[in-house]
Amino acid sequence: MAVRDGTPVLKILLLICFITFVKSQGHTPLTPPYFNLAQNREIIATSTCGLRSDGTPMPELFCRLTGGGDERDSTAEISNLPLIQGQLCDICDPSSRDKYHRAENAIDGTENWWQSPPLSRGNQYNEVNLTINFDQVFHVAYVFIRMANSPRPEVWVLERSIDFGKTWMPWQYFAGSASDCYKFFNAQADQRIQHDDDVICSTRFSKIVPLENGELNLTFLQIVVSLVNGRPSAMNFSQTMALQNWTKATNVRMKLLRTKTLQGHLMDIARQDPTVTRRYFYSIKDISIGGRCVCNGHADSCVRGDSLNPSILLVTVMDTQMNVCMMRK
Ligand SMILES: *[C@@H]1O[C@H](CO)[C@@H](O)[C@H](O)[C@H]1NC(C)=O
Ligand SMILES: *[C@@H]1O[C@H](CO)[C@@H](O)[C@H](O)[C@H]1NC(C)=O
Ligand SMILES: *[C@@H]1O[C@H](CO)[C@@H](O)[C@H](O)[C@H]1NC(C)=O
Ligand SMILES: *[C@@H]1O[C@H](CO)[C@@H](O)[C@H](O)[C@H]1NC(C)=O
Repeated sequence: MAVRDGTPVLKILLLICFITFVKSQGHTPLTPPYFNLAQNREIIATSTCGLRSDGTPMPELFCRLTGGGDERDSTAEISNLPLIQGQLCDICDPSSRDKYHRAENAIDGTENWWQSPPLSRGNQYNEVNLTINFDQVFHVAYVFIRMANSPRPEVWVLERSIDFGKTWMPWQYFAGSASDCYKFFNAQADQRIQHDDDVICSTRFSKIVPLENGELNLTFLQIVVSLVNGRPSAMNFSQTMALQNWTKATNVRMKLLRTKTLQGHLMDIARQDPTVTRRYFYSIKDISIGGRCVCNGHADSCVRGDSLNPSILLVTVMDTQMNVCMMRK
């Protein structure tokens, strides 16, 4: 892939979201700081490339969706991968550090990635849950996802829990077409958001992958889900219960339902032709979840270990005299 590092994009995003959050406070001057809630959290995938369902290693072949042939020489990064029937292929192998594509890779801030089993293992691997568990409730402002060596998923749901994983509710649906929004979620596609807690079905992040010189363009590897911006009370967050409720989560889940395929491959997938199905899987390089503590008026309402120094606890408290949220060490 031509894609290297999306970090500048992420930084800009973080800044935009931060400014928005500060502005949305209206007249309250201070806000609890804002951080990447996904960092150092527990993350669990229901299945992972190279691992059996019981978690034991099982080296597994996969191939790139794009490429092979001439392209091989032009891309130094992958020039040592084997060509199998004209496809660039590699192995998921938990015994090798850089071929173990475990779930933790999606939140470790490195270029490593998580990868699901290719559909050559079975069509049921279209369905994979990737769950990030916080240990407390947070307000989530946005979720940013960057794919690695696969296109964005075609059909999936961003879900949240506010009871530590006992029950789940949808935050946003994603599908490649209006008919899939209807078929999978009984939802109309790309509706205008009218209420703070409207669950929309978005088609813009599941579009057909445009290939440029056989490469996936970075723009088409990213997903940005905004849970505050664009909602009616976005500028009045601190006084709007409905929006505050809407952004709350103790756990966040990507419920993946269908990989993006190239049109002509549908028949071959039905026939389980492995030269085609081993090219279909999910791979995620980064999940960042922008959010902050819930300040509900009770002292010590939010405790979090400092990510650089976990032994220091940061506590968000409501300063009742000033009526603002503050952080204390
Ligand atoms: C994913 O989670 C949902 C509940 O959110 C559950 O119904 C489904 O069975 C899970 N899928 C897999 C593949 O475990
Ligand atoms: C990627 O696609 C976008 C939107 O089509 C385009 O504006 C941008 O120039 C492309 N970037 C590269 C590096 O090709
Ligand atoms: C913010 O919301 C409160 C409560 O709903 C309302 O009274 C107030 O007018 C709103 N302020 C703005 C600027 O919309
Ligand atoms: C927000 O959530 C609380 C507790 O779950 C509930 O009692 C309240 O009615 C909700 N408010 C709105 C405006 O959704």
